[in-house]
Amino acid sequence: MPLDALLDRQLLIISGKGGVGKTTVAAAVSVLVSRYNKRVLVCEVEGKRALSSLFGSDELTPTPRELRPNLYGMNISAEESLKEYFDVQFHMKRLAKPLVASQLVYYVTHAAPGLRDLLMLGKVWHEAVRKKSFDVIVLDTPAAGHAVSMLRSPAGFLQAVPLGPMARNAREVVEWLQDPQKVSILLVSMAEEMPVNESIETTQLLEERLGMDVTATFINMLYPPLYEDRHAEETFRTLENPEQLVEEAKRAKAKLNAKSTAALFEAGSFYLARRDLQQEHRQVLVAAMKDTSRIVDLPFMFRESFGKQEIDDLATVMRDQLAS
Ligand SMILES: Nc1ncnc2c1ncn2[C@@H]1O[C@H](COP(=O)(O)OP(=O)(O)O)[C@@H](O)[C@H]1O
Ligand SMILES: [Mg+2]
Repeated sequence: MPLDALLDRQLLIISGKGGVGKTTVAAAVSVLVSRYNKRVLVCEVEGKRALSSLFGSDELTPTPRELRPNLYGMNISAEESLKEYFDVQFHMKRLAKPLVASQLVYYVTHAAPGLRDLLMLGKVWHEAVRKKSFDVIVLDTPAAGHAVSMLRSPAGFLQAVPLGPMARNAREVVEWLQDPQKVSILLVSMAEEMPVNESIETTQLLEERLGMDVTATFINMLYPPLYEDRHAEETFRTLENPEQLVEEAKRAKAKLNAKSTAALFEAGSFYLARRDLQQEHRQVLVAAMKDTSRIVDLPFMFRESFGKQEIDDLATVMRDQLAS
């Protein structure tokens, strides 16, 4: 059952194109896992506000902050991670402070290939494996970043800098990241052409090149049926013009303002066309996946704003599909 995999891993990496709902899904997955009595840490990389605002909390910091019972949030940046790395590894607090304030950090963190990602993954590893203060860590990856290149970064760094304490740590991080019992990837996609193609590609790259397991693929923002009653939707589909909608309304003894009929008809037709198109794209993604029990459909939530309630509702939708 895919839900077990979510609950048993030390790290869940949320991956997908910017704008598909990664941060939203990271928040909902964290809530879902925390409901099973797990201590969860959700990490936002570089950005600080998107996650915290979903939970109505202050900006996240490099120190975990409680967002709700069993659920903590943290911000990760390469610079802060480097500073902490020096503190922890070499007890060089005095050295680390001026170092971080200097241009040198900028240089160091941009010089070696993949070092920025490695520092951030190293920080996550430190929390998960060394400190063991959380059962499950959820990592929301940056919008511009790509999970595949991020996950390759420790290996890239090792090629460039094969010796020394950093390389030793990088090797440990690489081994950990490649252990499918400890780390898994959650993909977020949308039922549109580009995200679907990208998700298929990413799944293959992760599995073939990195041997990493995609535990679940979330297809986000799917339009729900137009009516809860399937017959009503079928009836709507047979209508050819607003006049016929008026007729239908009369038959169903529903009141319909004549002025709004045309707009309603337009909106309904548009909605259904979009929904059909989404279903076509969704089908392409489903057909490319080996194991369809790992696909989770998430509805587009037509709400005024997005906050705690919406995240909770999405977590429940996830549970219903992952636990079956
Ligand atoms: N299921 C959904 N229903 C409605 N709006 C959503 C849904 N998922 C995400 N959104 C909205 O889409 C926007 C992008 O989501 P976000 O999680 O920030 O994406 P990403 O982190 O991938 O850039 C946000 O405004 C968010 O509230
Ligand atoms: Mg985001």
